[in-house]
Amino acid sequence: MRIVFVGAGYVGLVSGTCLADFGHDVVCVDNDESKVDALRQGRIPIYEPGLDDLVARNVQQKRLSFSTDLGECVRTCDVVFIAVGTPSRRGDGHADLSYVYAAAREIARHIEGFTLVVTKSTVPVGTGDEVERIIRDERPDADFAVVSNPEFLREGAAIEDFKRPDRIVIGIEDERAREVANEIYRPLSLNQAPILYTRRRTAELIKYAANAFLATKITFINEMADLCEAVGADVQDVARGIGLDNRIGRKFLHAGPGFGGSCFPKDTRALAETARQIGSPARLIDMVISINEDRKRQMAEKIVAACGGSVEGRTIAVLGLTFKPNTDDMRESPSIDIISALVEKGAKVRAHDPEGAEQARKVLPDIEYADEPYACAAGADALVLITEWDVYRALDLTRLKDLLAQPVICDLRNVYKPAEMARRGIRYYGVGRGELR
Ligand code: UGA
Repeated sequence: MRIVFVGAGYVGLVSGTCLADFGHDVVCVDNDESKVDALRQGRIPIYEPGLDDLVARNVQQKRLSFSTDLGECVRTCDVVFIAVGTPSRRGDGHADLSYVYAAAREIARHIEGFTLVVTKSTVPVGTGDEVERIIRDERPDADFAVVSNPEFLREGAAIEDFKRPDRIVIGIEDERAREVANEIYRPLSLNQAPILYTRRRTAELIKYAANAFLATKITFINEMADLCEAVGADVQDVARGIGLDNRIGRKFLHAGPGFGGSCFPKDTRALAETARQIGSPARLIDMVISINEDRKRQMAEKIVAACGGSVEGRTIAVLGLTFKPNTDDMRESPSIDIISALVEKGAKVRAHDPEGAEQARKVLPDIEYADEPYACAAGADALVLITEWDVYRALDLTRLKDLLAQPVICDLRNVYKPAEMARRGIRYYGVGRGELR
């Protein structure tokens, strides 16, 4: 089967490469020539564990290639995935669909023979209908079907998530599409991944509902963490205690500095906006968005309190800047708001991140960057852990304490054990670990 991905960004590149690895013939098309050139030379523009090897293997075996010529690729393919960006629109927070619609128009001009057009980008309900209308307007004679096939990849674990998904969701309006979709995902169904066929609008909503639910779960446990601090309880045990109930589940119950990244903040805003426009407000999601926004400022206050009420003229060492580990992605990372608030309050911030420093310099240009965690801590008045990279889990705590000017650690991901910190004479502030305060 010959498959084209429009957009060689995160989703297109990972999904395209994985489908090539399953034996399909895949071309990833992007209009950014420098990106396509880099990919052709084996340089991967994003950090995703294992992706460089997988791309190299499939390029070498001639199942995967890169191109800027969308027309040529579409004319000869059976399936074209739209995997372009849908950033938040300035002003109303709605998803900006201009790239999706531009791709649909361009695809329409080149369709030859029955072609499946699949929206992989996260798009609001009804976008599939609009894509279909655009293609039909542009080329009334074209033989095609538009399918919604949202992705559920997590950055940092995207290859595993693609190859062993919990489910594949496919929204169709045309029965011919089912056969082609079955063919695309046959290798995955051999891994026993359930394929859920549904209507197109439902598939589009499933994507937003999944992300909004996970964001709600995180926000719920973050509120419980505040309550734990107030009443002297431990949120880690609360999460375990409720999570062992299968109806609740243990995942996505880690209290922290609030959710960030390229998906949850954008998708919750877009869902809330769709709901508002349609006259069926999603009040819970509105609340989740607002609580999560407040949380970052609240974390800065927590750090100020740990420093005795002021950070004016103090040096704060920050470990971890990306929105989560195993990515270099800084998009909507809580670290941005937390650090900006600290700087506003007069602190001098020195930070370390294993992979994210280059991206971080673009959004946080005025802070200092250290090459390794101990250099980051040296002479600082407090150490703040914002992102739980593995390398921070086994740091030499005696050395850290000796390096810090004040033995203060704010652990916004609950990586360390409060009892151990107390034993070492470190003033330790976790999230929702009330009994030790
Ligand atoms: C998320 C979803 O998990 C994927 O299923 C989805 O495909 C993807 O969005 C998308 O829409 O493309 P991702 O943004 O890569 O994936 O990251 P997550 O691992 O979900 O984490 C998101 C944020 O929530 C991070 O800031 C993370 O630190 C935070 N988080 C996560 C918590 O604070 N606590 C938790 O228990 C889990």
